[in-house]
Amino acid sequence: MERDVKEIVRQMTLEEKAGMCSGKDFWHLKSVERLGIPEVMVSDGPHGLRKQAENGDHLGINESIKAVCFPAACATACSFDRDLLEEMGAALGTECQAENVSVLLGPAVNIKRSPLCGRNFEYFSEDPYLAGQMAKAHITGVQKEGVGTSIKHFAANNQEYHRMSASSEVDERTLREIYLAAFETPVKEAKPKTVMCSYNRINGVFASENPWLLDEVLRKEWGYEGYVMSDWGAVNDRVPGLKAGLELEMPASGGETDRQIVEAVKNGTLKEEVLDQAVERILNVIFDYVDHRKDAVFDMEKDHALAEKVETESMVLLKNDGILPLKKGVRAAFIGVFAKTPRYQGGGSSHINSFRVTGALEAAEKMADLTYAEGYRLKEDVIDEVLVAEAVEAAKSAEVAVIFAGLPDAFESEGYDRTHMRMPDSQNYLIHEVCKVQPNVVVVLHNGSPVEMPWAEEVSGILEAYLGGQGVGTAEVRILFGEANPCGKLAETIPYKLSDNPSYLNFPGDGETVAYREGIFVGYRYYDRKEMPVRYPFGYGLSYTEFSYSNLQLDKSSMKDTDTLTVSVDITNTGKRAGKEIVQLYVADRTGSADRPVRELKNFAKVSLEPGETETVRMELNKRSFAWYNVKLHDWYAASGTYEIQIGKSSREIVLCDTVELTTDVKVPMEIHKNTTVGQLLRNPDMAQVLQEALSEMMSTMGAGGGEASTEAISPEMIRGMMESMPLRGLRSFAGMSEEALNRLVEKLREVQ
Ligand code: BGC
Repeated sequence: MERDVKEIVRQMTLEEKAGMCSGKDFWHLKSVERLGIPEVMVSDGPHGLRKQAENGDHLGINESIKAVCFPAACATACSFDRDLLEEMGAALGTECQAENVSVLLGPAVNIKRSPLCGRNFEYFSEDPYLAGQMAKAHITGVQKEGVGTSIKHFAANNQEYHRMSASSEVDERTLREIYLAAFETPVKEAKPKTVMCSYNRINGVFASENPWLLDEVLRKEWGYEGYVMSDWGAVNDRVPGLKAGLELEMPASGGETDRQIVEAVKNGTLKEEVLDQAVERILNVIFDYVDHRKDAVFDMEKDHALAEKVETESMVLLKNDGILPLKKGVRAAFIGVFAKTPRYQGGGSSHINSFRVTGALEAAEKMADLTYAEGYRLKEDVIDEVLVAEAVEAAKSAEVAVIFAGLPDAFESEGYDRTHMRMPDSQNYLIHEVCKVQPNVVVVLHNGSPVEMPWAEEVSGILEAYLGGQGVGTAEVRILFGEANPCGKLAETIPYKLSDNPSYLNFPGDGETVAYREGIFVGYRYYDRKEMPVRYPFGYGLSYTEFSYSNLQLDKSSMKDTDTLTVSVDITNTGKRAGKEIVQLYVADRTGSADRPVRELKNFAKVSLEPGETETVRMELNKRSFAWYNVKLHDWYAASGTYEIQIGKSSREIVLCDTVELTTDVKVPMEIHKNTTVGQLLRNPDMAQVLQEALSEMMSTMGAGGGEASTEAISPEMIRGMMESMPLRGLRSFAGMSEEALNRLVEKLREVQ
């Protein structure tokens, strides 16, 4: 519909405009009936609809309408399946249309910095490329149904401890390469209607009143056109927030902050144009929804089936000593409360009131000759010998024991962090005891974030279900009995123990600040660089079939940083079952231009192959795939030189590799003075040439005249090594260069720059 939003804003009173910038209540924006501005609703998100009719809260306490709980992001990210995420998003969008919800609050793309973050279950990955791709697909799916999304929590919100006040202390490069990157692609390419700023401060400034974050980066650099809303209660100081680029405060402010805005306009501390623009942005999104209203039906059965499918495509088979798939009709002991009442979602604002939940026990009824034993208590972590004895008996008289284990609700939730990475002792004990009497044990894990697995060597199979949504039981049974072939791979590293994690010494900080001292070395970027053994690496997951990789081709062997590189590789299913493989493309910087991870994920593809079938997978790379964030340029920079293109089955299993030569015209500015080191200068080809002359002269001076003894004492390699850290003025002190000659050299070097 044709509508002049600017004109509507002009007709609004100052009070109406200020009022538009905060919620009416917990879930609604305000209406202005006389101008045809309707009241619209927003709801959580991200993996289901949590629409609360009354008694709103953001902690998951009060009931919401019956809905469908899809697998949480910790699971869906492991699908590495853009189409699947888009399909799930579209289903959620349709549900929102049916329930008249204008914005679904999510997806949440915060990076999993530590396995301890209580909210990791809602986040996608430790890798910003993967998180960004999954979020982009999710947003595209929801928004193509005419419903908005709210990518959250912007930004550097990676823990729950003091989440509303702590300052994340992160250097610029790390922010750009890791924490902002997960937002950047979805914001630029999927254009979420809204962005939700986080509670925390970033380098001292609240995200909700951070002009650098909300204006410089989000709007000016990324071209964002929607509106920014606060996380619930994230507003610290309203007027500075509005000036910084926070359009909507949520939830309602009781009129208090609206009055502050009115007052600020009246006393001239806030320009009315800033308010007008904020209101215009909010209205654009409201009317966009209004104009795309559809007749839609919330088909719960259909979406339940989709939830089962999504989980089937996401679960990760971590270990299989040939025990899986199980034979149909097998005598199986299903052990553990989670077989009956699975843990399938996390606690807090994303909590869904599921209309149905299917556990594996119910789903496997017709598949096997089943016995069930509870195994452990859920409410408290105490070993119940009676329950353990029952489980051991059940395991003894069965051909196989499947233990459904993981983290109870109280172990991880929004609002607080975990303090350790262990499962309940009672469950670990149970697994050890069952393994003593039964050689065929499979563990199925229900958890939102990695756990230590002290029993990993004792069991024959491990299936990571994560928090798999309300259809988790069906999905588990499909995989366990081979009706589906596992095809998920880990979106995060599972370390052996918590202290291996790079943030270990700096998580969660002192309550005031949290220093991101590990910098860009998050997740596999750290473990790989440290050559540290891990329980299961990023990108790892097994299948019931085998895949071979061959014929890696790059469409060019050299490129400019403005070109696109197409990488192709043939994948063949060499096993006996149909299956899907996630092909991962990593780039390794061999230019030596900066401190970089060993490799970084820059693209991936998922292929479905029948036995014997081969498919050529094509993936593209561009400048950004090679670049790092150069703080001198305040921009992305890919140095000239060699880059390795690595194709991996996981981050630790690179199967094919080739190289490409890249060139760039971008020059990194360098301040040249007499304390610039020779090493720094030698890395710049133009300056290296100028220096070379001066150096060779100097080497001959230093190496000559001392006879054999001095040649032995100082070789040309040693001189080169020492030169690395030698400031230019060293040429004066050690090579007899005159002050005048030194100044001339500095001048000359400045000229070539
Ligand atoms: C959470 C958000 C959520 C909001 C509304 C906050 O506590 O951090 O993710 O969307 O509540 O429920």
